[in-house]
Formats: sequence, structure tokens, C-alpha cells
Amino acid sequence: MIYVTRKEHFNAAHKLARPEWSDEKNEEVFGKCANANWHGHNFNLYVTVKGEPNELTGFVIDLKVLSKIIREKVTDQLDHKNLNVDVPFMQGIMPSTENLCIAIWKQIVEPIAAHGCYLHAIKLYETENNFAEYFGPEH
Ligand code: NI
Repeated sequence: MIYVTRKEHFNAAHKLARPEWSDEKNEEVFGKCANANWHGHNFNLYVTVKGEPNELTGFVIDLKVLSKIIREKVTDQLDHKNLNVDVPFMQGIMPSTENLCIAIWKQIVEPIAAHGCYLHAIKLYETENNFAEYFGPEH
């Protein structure tokens, strides 16, 4: 098995707050991410795919193909959007970095498998210092 990674980027707005909680409790739990009038992040997304190199191309997956899958299924739908209200695949989901990783996984796991390789990991940086990683539901 060998692992290849494609990096993509998107900008998006969100708010982390539970409507049934008071403003004080939301502020205490979610800090600046609870800001009532939204705020943005510059997200960096790393998608890692594993498999064996193709005998003819030497590729696990053509990274142009992987980039196209990520753009169509993920970044075109997230970029410059409000994650709380604009994105069909995030409806009803708290838009934390962790939950975004899980939702992104679900969007691309099957299209990647259709190319004879496997999605290994989603790594998503919300800030330079904070990121989440997801290795799939069986881990
Ligand atoms: Ni935030």
C-alpha cells in the first residue's frame, strides 16, 4: 500500500451555538466561534488515498481525478458559503471541524473507491494551529 495526498482550500463562514442554550453558555463553550453574526475561516483540506500503483501509470490515483472529485463533491459546495445554512450535506449538523471531516468523508468515499483505491484520511485545518483528522467509521 502507498498513500497519496491532495491538498485543497476553501473559505467558509459558520457559527457554533446551540439554540437551546443561553448566549452566555454558548460563549463559554464555543468562544469566538459562537459569534451571533457569523465569522469565517480559511480551511485547508488534505485528502489521503491509499492503494497500489497502477502498472502502466505508476499512480495510485491520478491526482487530477482526485482533485476533480474533491472540487465537485466538497469544495465547490463549501467555498464562500455559510456552513450553517447554505450547504445541503451539512444540514442539521453542528459545523465543527470534526463534523466537517466526517461529512466530507461521506461525500467522497464512494467516488474514490470507483477508481480502484481507498480513501484513507481526511485532515482539515480550521486555523494554522487547529485541525481534525478522520480515518473512517471503522476506526
Ligand atoms: Ni469558527
